Amino acid sequence: MNKNLFELRECALKEIENARKPSEIAQLKSKYLGKKSKISEVMSSLKNLPIEERRETGKLCNAIKKQIAEALKTKSEQILSESSFDIDITMPINKERGSLSPITIVGNEVCDILQKMGFAIVSGPEIEDEYHNFDALNIPASHPARDMQDTYWLGSNKLLRTHTSPCQVRAMERYGAPLRIAAPGRCFRNEDIDACHENTFFQLEGMCIDKNISIPNLIYVMRTILSEIFAQDVQVRLRPGYFPFVEPGFELDIKCLICGGEGCPTCKGSGWLELCPCGMVHPNVLRISNIDPDEYSGFAFGVGLTRLAMMKYHINDIRVFNTCNLEELDQFGIV
Ligand code: DAH
Repeated sequence: MNKNLFELRECALKEIENARKPSEIAQLKSKYLGKKSKISEVMSSLKNLPIEERRETGKLCNAIKKQIAEALKTKSEQILSESSFDIDITMPINKERGSLSPITIVGNEVCDILQKMGFAIVSGPEIEDEYHNFDALNIPASHPARDMQDTYWLGSNKLLRTHTSPCQVRAMERYGAPLRIAAPGRCFRNEDIDACHENTFFQLEGMCIDKNISIPNLIYVMRTILSEIFAQDVQVRLRPGYFPFVEPGFELDIKCLICGGEGCPTCKGSGWLELCPCGMVHPNVLRISNIDPDEYSGFAFGVGLTRLAMMKYHINDIRVFNTCNLEELDQFGIV
């Protein structure tokens, strides 16, 4: 019996000596000192031994346990001291720090502007259901507008949201009227990717519902956002646009900031840039979310944050946002 115990001790000490990681120390501790270890087994069978042998073996077990525990402690301290970092306080600071994405920066700016006008920032799930992404926005299953949004379907009526507009519905359901919300977020469409199109992009949805809200309120809010973002007074114009959840619906353009409206390659010679679809909330949309359209009216808009970032930082290829290539991202000089 005692011979076995000595062999066990040799084996344990050798393994402890060879350990290199804290996890190995933990394993060895459990193997040699744990409840199921050989020594624990011997100790619990001591009672079956004749008294003399019991005393001697008990003493030996305790001594070996102590030796193993000490060896584990010493080795563990050694491993920790070897792995600790040497800190050289004279080293220059690494100045290459990360920065926020241009989309995040623009998104935060728009949110700040809207918050000052009393809008609350809300969010919604990227995995949406058909009801919030389509039906509650007055786009029933048979509606041709569904085909305009190349949807990634996930099965069981789930999909990757194709726009941030479902956040309007969730906000109406949750807070009712009056309501002022803005919801920035990522959207997905099964698009072919080129310099102007990505399958993953960012929008910011805005919605304002109250008594007597009308088109001038919409124009005021849009012009304020854009003037502040571009740090100059911008001119806007509304053209008719069709979206099932607004009536009337518009495309909002701003006068080209590059050529001042003269016509240049950026605005394709027209003098105007298409920036933000918007409109007066369709009565059906209010009704579906239990808001009485005879009492309340509202406007909504969906700014393309990716587009806005491209214009603000003169980024001419949308694909750089998803490359994760630091050299390419560094070119924006906004670190
Ligand atoms: N959700 C629309 C899209 O992605 C954009 C949009 C249009 C949002 C009009 C609005 C709106 O709130 O009023 O195509």
